[in-house]
Amino acid sequence: MTYARPADRMGALRLHLNENTGGCSQAVIDAIRQLTAEDVAYYPDYAALTRECAEYLGVREGQLVLTNGLDEGLLAATVSAFRLFRGTSELPEAIIPTPAFEMYSIFVKAAGGRTVSIPPKPAFEFQLQEVCDALTPRTRIIFLTNPNNPTGQIIPREALRDIARRVPAEVTVVIDEAYYDFCGETLLPEIDAHPNVIIGRTFAKAHGLAGLRAGCLIGDPDRLNQIREAVPPYSLSVFAAAGWRAALRDREYLGWYRTQVEESKELLYAACERLGLQYWRSAGNFVLINVSRVGDPGEIVDAMATRGILVRDRSKDPGCGGCIRITAGLVRHTEIVIEALEGLCAAP
Ligand SMILES: Cc1ncc(COP(=O)(O)O)c(C=O)c1O
Repeated sequence: MTYARPADRMGALRLHLNENTGGCSQAVIDAIRQLTAEDVAYYPDYAALTRECAEYLGVREGQLVLTNGLDEGLLAATVSAFRLFRGTSELPEAIIPTPAFEMYSIFVKAAGGRTVSIPPKPAFEFQLQEVCDALTPRTRIIFLTNPNNPTGQIIPREALRDIARRVPAEVTVVIDEAYYDFCGETLLPEIDAHPNVIIGRTFAKAHGLAGLRAGCLIGDPDRLNQIREAVPPYSLSVFAAAGWRAALRDREYLGWYRTQVEESKELLYAACERLGLQYWRSAGNFVLINVSRVGDPGEIVDAMATRGILVRDRSKDPGCGGCIRITAGLVRHTEIVIEALEGLCAAP
């Protein structure tokens, strides 16, 4: 399994990768513009960024690893979790409740492991018992996404605690909180109580830094030290180090963007009600919509693309037959995609 980059179209409205459709804070661009030739020529210093990011998250610096996007952190966590596996001919295992962010199983394969997929339940309730039943002596990592991508569903906090308590120390429980900023749901305040839990965050979504690449892992310092060994020492560019600090300081931008996303989701829900389309209320910056009443999801995605709007076909994901996923960003962008959806629903 390899990552297939979704088709891009110049000038299209990008609602297919859960990016920030409003760009990033102007302060980020200003900070990057202030960099000098020497800044670019030297290997970056991350001391200020690490301090400010730890303060922003309310954690100690030793509990934090900054990575080139959360993707890099997830890969490093996987490599680290599998590294000491002493299976004979067997492979170390990763448990992944589905549907899930596709990169987990790509990273598991890249790191020489095997994915154990947990099928979804009918209404995407969290598969607590099934995850626990899937544990074997070979399990080394569990990927939990909270809230889930692509469903937008939240995992009950008690279920997360339960898994963290039940798994042996050699198993890393990754709680991927990529969409935390849109819901505020997090296990971070309890991180000290769960030494095998690693929380992942990205600044790609609400802060609009997907192109800059800015992510991090938070957890027990000892476990993080092992993961650090799998992260190159200069993996963040000087542009990321400067822009990221500026993004952390601009709380006003963050608040404004969150409000836009909230309003956009309400507009999408209301449109689905009007059009008789099944949807799931989402804690992220996207909404999963079953469009099978109108037509084939692949054809709908193509029809949208010809109208200059990119949305994502998720119909091949477990439990997501007939579904597309639409990013909820700026309200004016959401109005455009709703108009297109209405047009397709009205078409004979
Ligand atoms: C659940 C989840 N985790 C991680 C990522 C990757 O984040 P980054 O862009 O910081 O690598 C994404 C991006 O879409 C995501 O949806």
